Amino acid sequence: MTEQKKILRALAGETLPTPPIWMMRQAGRYLPEYRATRAQAGDFLSLCYNSDLAAEVTLQPIRRYGFDAAILFADILLLPQALGVDLWFETGEGPRMSTTTTANELAALKDKDAIHETLNPIYDTVKILSRELPKDTTLIGFAGAPWTVATYMVAGRGTKDQGPAHALKSENRAVFQGIIDLLTDSTIEYLSKQIEAGAEVVKLFDSWAGSLKGQDFDDFALTPTKKIIAALKNRHPGIPVIAFPREAGDRYIGFAKATGADCVAVDNSVTAEWVAEHVQVDGCVQGNLASSHMVTGGQALIDETQRIVKALSKGPHIFNLGHGITPDADPENVRLMIDTVRSAN
Ligand code: CP3
Repeated sequence: MTEQKKILRALAGETLPTPPIWMMRQAGRYLPEYRATRAQAGDFLSLCYNSDLAAEVTLQPIRRYGFDAAILFADILLLPQALGVDLWFETGEGPRMSTTTTANELAALKDKDAIHETLNPIYDTVKILSRELPKDTTLIGFAGAPWTVATYMVAGRGTKDQGPAHALKSENRAVFQGIIDLLTDSTIEYLSKQIEAGAEVVKLFDSWAGSLKGQDFDDFALTPTKKIIAALKNRHPGIPVIAFPREAGDRYIGFAKATGADCVAVDNSVTAEWVAEHVQVDGCVQGNLASSHMVTGGQALIDETQRIVKALSKGPHIFNLGHGITPDADPENVRLMIDTVRSAN
């Protein structure tokens, strides 16, 4: 029965004896089996759109480690691509896209209902996974939050300070708001289809939420997230949503209540003790081990893992990293983290 899955119990607000665990970017380049499948697919985007191989890499960390959840293998930038943006990945550098900064460029993008044509293979990946995952593993779908996706669309690439998006937001508010609105509406359609295909939980990645301050945080991180969650809850009652406004700092406080999220994922710039006091009071939290421990391992990894588990043991908690695991991580450190979490308490 789905109700028995540990992740769903934690998301429903239950405090479990040991937290369930999964890891951001758990299917990734630190795993030799991932590198082999990626080589077979060709490039990264071909892997994302090959449903059989994308399902295969999603399953690899489940087979190797028995995580409590699998996250769909895809990317947050597939949605703008489905809206008509050109997207490619420069080896060793990251994503590149055609930019959207003018009213004409915005108007040239497709309608929210036209995205499925491109994204159908992603829904097929979800369908394969919901068939093939072990019965006690939860399937998580995801999308980027509008602000984070917009920062890539405006700059045409990743940026350190999201400068181009901040500039457009003050220089041409109408176009910037138009981009956010189109992304908000299409994210609702995208996540709805993932849920219809079998995703049991969805997560919104707002990786650059931390660069929004004051009213901007309300307008571009909080409000779009709230709209997406309200629409999903209306269409798919009972499907939990995890929100990850990364590096939100003080703005993590009250974020779940303000947006309707069932769980707030926290990075590692805040301590687990602080999270227990200020965020977990409102419900489930997810995080927050520094991913550098997956590179360095040893007693520090054990100590820090135990400290986080203990600090968050009085409320609902899903153990995870504060951000994605990096390609230089040692797969044995992942096992050490899992063993430490599962033998805690
Ligand atoms: O967590 C998972 O395993 C699920 C799959 C997933 C990927 N990207 C696979 C991926 C998820 C949830 C993402 C989210 C994502 N993608 C975010 C938000 C979360 C975050 O990390 O902040 C962002 C900003 C992106 C955009 C993106 N995709 C960048 C900036 C890069 C290049 C950086 C890098 O690590 O090389 C990617 C590529 C990417 N997405 C990889 C993976 C496994 C590496 C691709 C490869 O195999 O070369």
